[in-house]
Amino acid sequence: RLEGVEQAPPDPILGVSEAFKADTSDLKLNLGVGAYRTEELKPYVLNVVKKAERKMIDAGENKEYLPIDGLASFNKATVNLLLGFDHAAVKEGCVATVQSLSGTGSLRVGAQFIQKCIPGKTVYLSNPTWGNHRGIFSSAGVKWEYYRYFDPETVGLDFEGLMEDIKNAPDASIIVLHGCAHNPTGVDPTKEQWKQIADLCVDKNHLPFFDVAYQGFASGSLDEDAYAPRYFVDRGIEIMVAQSYSKNLGLYGERVGALNFILSSSSAAKKVLSQLKQIARAIYSNPPVHGARIVSEVVGNDDMFGEWKQEMEYMAGRIKGVRQELQDHLERINPDKDWSFITKQIGMFSFTGLTPQQVENMTNKHHIYMTKDGRISLAGLSSSKAEYLAKAIDDSVRN
Ligand code: LMR
Repeated sequence: RLEGVEQAPPDPILGVSEAFKADTSDLKLNLGVGAYRTEELKPYVLNVVKKAERKMIDAGENKEYLPIDGLASFNKATVNLLLGFDHAAVKEGCVATVQSLSGTGSLRVGAQFIQKCIPGKTVYLSNPTWGNHRGIFSSAGVKWEYYRYFDPETVGLDFEGLMEDIKNAPDASIIVLHGCAHNPTGVDPTKEQWKQIADLCVDKNHLPFFDVAYQGFASGSLDEDAYAPRYFVDRGIEIMVAQSYSKNLGLYGERVGALNFILSSSSAAKKVLSQLKQIARAIYSNPPVHGARIVSEVVGNDDMFGEWKQEMEYMAGRIKGVRQELQDHLERINPDKDWSFITKQIGMFSFTGLTPQQVENMTNKHHIYMTKDGRISLAGLSSSKAEYLAKAIDDSVRN
C-alpha cells in the first residue's frame, strides 16, 4: 500500500553523520554536524553538567510531567541569560517564554505561531542559512524568502544587499537573524551594522526572529554573544528569540531550549503565551525535564555558573586555536591563496568556499565529512588533524 511513497533525501547535516558512521577508514573525520569534540575527538560532557546531575539525583528529583510551557526556574534562567539578569521587560511582565525542544523545536513553535496568529506574513532567511531553517518554516506552512547575506568575493557580509532586501520586504515581515556566530558563514554584522538593521526594522515595522544557538560559544562570553538581541530590546523593538543549550552547555541530546517573545505590553505577552502553550500541547504536549533542570541548577548556583563560564571559554578557545592552526598550515602549504578568511570567521564553523565537487573530493578521497555548502565544523577538528585537513583542502582546491 505504501510502495508509492517517495524516497526522501538524506538530511543535509545529520545525513553527513550517517555517511561518516558507515565509513570504515581510520582517516575519517566528521566535520559535518556542529558538535564539540575534545582534542581526542570524543564527545564532551561538561563537568558542571555532571555536577548538576549528581545534585539532582541526590535530591531525588522525580520524572513528573512539566507544565506545557516548561520548568518555571528554567524559563526564568533562560530569559536572564538572554537579556541580562533582572531586565525591566521581565519585571514588567512583557516576556512570554516557553521551554521547548532546543533550537529546532523552539523555532518550530515560533513558526507555527506565525502561521496561526499572524498569517500571511513572509519570513526572510539569510542566504545562506542553517540547513534546517527552510524546512522548519515550510513544515509549519509559512512562506519564506531569502535576503542577501554573504558575499563570496569578499568572503564577508553583503551588507548593502542585506539592507536592500530587508527594505524591499513588505512592512511587518519576519526577519530571521542569527544572534551571533552566523551558521554556516561565521560572518556577523558589526555593532554599527546591527544599529542600521535595527533602524530599518523600526522603519519597516518588521518583527525580528533571532536564532540564538551559540550564546557564549562564539566569544566565550554570554554577555558579548547576546549583544544583538539585547540591543534590539533596548531600542524598544519587539522580538522573537529561539535559544538552544546544545552547544554552550553541550546538552545536544537533551533537547533543551526556549522560545521567547519580548513585547511592549504585558497583555500581549499573556495572550502570546496562551497561544504558544496551545501550539506546544498539540505537537509534543510538554518539554523534557532533565536538561531544563540542569540549566536551572547551573545558572542558579554561583559556583556552578562560574564553572560553566570557564568551561565555555575553554571550548571556545580550543576552537579558536584549531582555526588558527588550520589557517597557518594552509598558508604554509599553499601561500598563493589568501586564507585569512578562516580566522576572520567566528563561532563553530568555517565556510570554506569549497564547491560541491571539491567537497566530494574531500569526502571520497580524504574521508573528511562536511556539508555540501562547503561548511566545516571546527568544533570537530583536533590539533593533530589540522595538517591533514589543510592538505586535503589544498588538494581539493587544486582539482
Ligand atoms: C548544525 O548546524 O550542525 C547543528 O545546528 C546541528 C543541527 O541540528 O543541524
